[in-house]
Amino acid sequence: MSKTKKILVPIVLILGLIQFIPYQRIEIPVDASAKFTTDNVEVQNILDKACMDCHSNETKYPWYANVVPVNYFLANHITEGTEHLNFSEWNSYPLEDQKHAAEEIVEVVEKKEMPMLFYWLIHWDAKLTDAERDALVTYFKSL
Ligand code: HEC
Repeated sequence: MSKTKKILVPIVLILGLIQFIPYQRIEIPVDASAKFTTDNVEVQNILDKACMDCHSNETKYPWYANVVPVNYFLANHITEGTEHLNFSEWNSYPLEDQKHAAEEIVEVVEKKEMPMLFYWLIHWDAKLTDAERDALVTYFKSL
């Protein structure tokens, strides 16, 4: 066996075997009245494409989300993301918390911390332009 094969064969075998680890995706029902919505179409579109997968209960899963260990990696990020900020529960936050969340959104968007690097590397359209960042910042500052 060549050196490359000696390394590749076990890796492929292990990846194949771990696919049998059972996994149940958590689906949380969405209450339409609690969802964040805005008439500002631009802001809504930006949030939909760049934030909702990790900050709502309406994640759109790609096919590879079923592949172990990608599923665990995504589940971990989505749980953490929605713990910090969940647009599916926005209207159930007390007004104070909404204001605080809006401030944090402004901060992470201005500092370009969100969306996370690995996310927009995969979802190219989620890499925000300066104009899109400005639109989010202006909107959430006005809340
Ligand atoms: C790939 C998943 C992912 C995407 C996409 C994403 N976030 Fe996050 N976000 C997280 C995770 C995980 C955390 C918590 C850990 C952290 O702060 O790094 C977080 C934290 C936050 C926080 C809280 C920061 C704090 O200091 O508590 C805000 C606000 C936020 N995100 C806003 C956004 C906005 C706005 C977008 C879209 C422009 C976005 N996120 C896109 C995963 C994501």
